[in-house]
Amino acid sequence: MKRRLFASFYGRFDRRLRAGTNRLRADLLGDLTGEVLEIGCGPGSNFGFYPPAARVTATDENAHMLPHARRAATAAAAPITVAYADATDLPFANASFDAAVATLVLCSVPDLAAALGQLRRVLKPGGSLRLFEHVRSERRGIARLQALANPAWGVVADGCRLDRDTGAAVRAAGFRIESETPARAWASTFALPAIVVRARR
Ligand SMILES: C[S@@+](CC[C@H](N)C(=O)[O-])C[C@H]1O[C@@H](n2cnc3c(N)ncnc32)[C@H](O)[C@@H]1O
Repeated sequence: MKRRLFASFYGRFDRRLRAGTNRLRADLLGDLTGEVLEIGCGPGSNFGFYPPAARVTATDENAHMLPHARRAATAAAAPITVAYADATDLPFANASFDAAVATLVLCSVPDLAAALGQLRRVLKPGGSLRLFEHVRSERRGIARLQALANPAWGVVADGCRLDRDTGAAVRAAGFRIESETPARAWASTFALPAIVVRARR
């Protein structure tokens, strides 16, 4: 029930929620080509930013999100197939994708190292990883507030954690970082500290 409500909220307000991140998403995804995997696609927040040269397999493990995503896929320039999949147990062959995308997802997966391990497994050698994720602040006071808010936030935001050091986890998973840029994850009217990462398997 809670997950259905979350999907319905995200589906209805997707456009407004991502308004402050449209340019960032366009920069991150606009040059992708070949077979692209997106995990935690939600209602299809990224679909309008993929170029026609990308063949996208978009996945989510909340079944209530999938109808929203399928609707968004019909309006996209790129061919997009929407499927159920848990990021920590991806049903795809080793080395089957040219690029993998996660935006505002790795905060929610229960096992971050497992999800990154799966992304690395399904990427071809040299394949591109593109991430936009909110993270723990580098400012100690804000990080402390994030830790305090975590339990209540997780309940209303479908298990999302405010205190992950996702950049360090990407390095620990064995990816070669090309760039890691600080950003803000605007959710309607408030922003969380975030990073944009481009890395290679
Ligand atoms: C905050 S939404 C982000 C949606 C979209 N990617 C965006 O950029 O706005 C997080 C999404 O990740 C999905 N998710 C959470 N845990 C997941 C997992 N283990 N595997 C796949 N998707 C997951 C949720 O169902 C939800 O759709």
